[in-house]
Amino acid sequence: NKPKLVVIGSLNMDIVVETDSYPQIGETVMGERIRFIPGGKGANQAVAGARLGAETAMIGAVGEDAFGEELLRCLQEDGVDVSGIKRVAGMATGVASIYVAEGDNSIIVVPGANSRVEPADIDRCEDKLRQADIVLLQLEIPVETVVYAARKAKSLGKTVVLNPAPAQPLPDELFGLVDYMTPNRTELGRYTGMDTEGEALKPAMRRMKEMGAAHIVTTLGADGSTYLDDNGSMHTITGYKVPVVDTTGAGDCYNAGLALSIASGRSLEEAIAFASLVSALAVTKFGAQEGMPTEAEARRFAEEQQKTGA
Ligand code: RIB
Ligand code: NA
Repeated sequence: NKPKLVVIGSLNMDIVVETDSYPQIGETVMGERIRFIPGGKGANQAVAGARLGAETAMIGAVGEDAFGEELLRCLQEDGVDVSGIKRVAGMATGVASIYVAEGDNSIIVVPGANSRVEPADIDRCEDKLRQADIVLLQLEIPVETVVYAARKAKSLGKTVVLNPAPAQPLPDELFGLVDYMTPNRTELGRYTGMDTEGEALKPAMRRMKEMGAAHIVTTLGADGSTYLDDNGSMHTITGYKVPVVDTTGAGDCYNAGLALSIASGRSLEEAIAFASLVSALAVTKFGAQEGMPTEAEARRFAEEQQKTGA
């Protein structure tokens, strides 16, 4: 039985420009390469979920333009149910303008149609929510809609995972509606107003738990990830050493892996181990959605890691 995942969130076309150096304000530089790659945190998480073996439906919005068509086509190719994605007349599809230089990137997201995902869209998809084992949310659609969706999912008895990215002010109520909150270190700092480096990480995670989320999992990039158990002790699961090609979407892969494992009834520790494994694989490939691993690739990688005794 496949776990049933509903992802509510954004779809973006990622316009990735590679250059030797960033332009200063008012300056022009020559780039090396430009690529158009399907992205958006919501759609990335949906594709990862589907490739990793979840029956996945997405709720969101695109514009009536070529990017929107392409994004829908890609989701469908991966078997994602797109019937909950509306097309908004007169709006552009979301775009993320990504500049890759000096081994790092900077991103500007223009939400376009993503800003039109409304509570009414959640109501329209109530059947999908009813059938779901787990509901996965991020913050690239209006916060009001995220709160509404979380409230509705909880009222239907569903497990809610919120990837609180990108960081922004959130109503207190939302924290109490979340079963699993998955900030990275920076986001954890923003939401708690606390230091998160070194020893400061644990008190910050405890603070976020006091804010209402039932479980906190903090992703630490190459250092792995960490969670608080029910006694408030912190456990860190180390990451994998892999050749880094592109980290865009690795966090999205982590969230999808975590959500689908939890939906399959695995323990939080097992779910985190799986999330670490699949997000490490995502880092070894270029592109957000393109780089998401399949269930078979994840299995192979896990076997390899066991053999090398890692
Ligand atoms: O999490 C990665 C995503 O964030 C990219 O695909 C880009 O669309 C931005 O929204
Ligand atoms: Na990648």
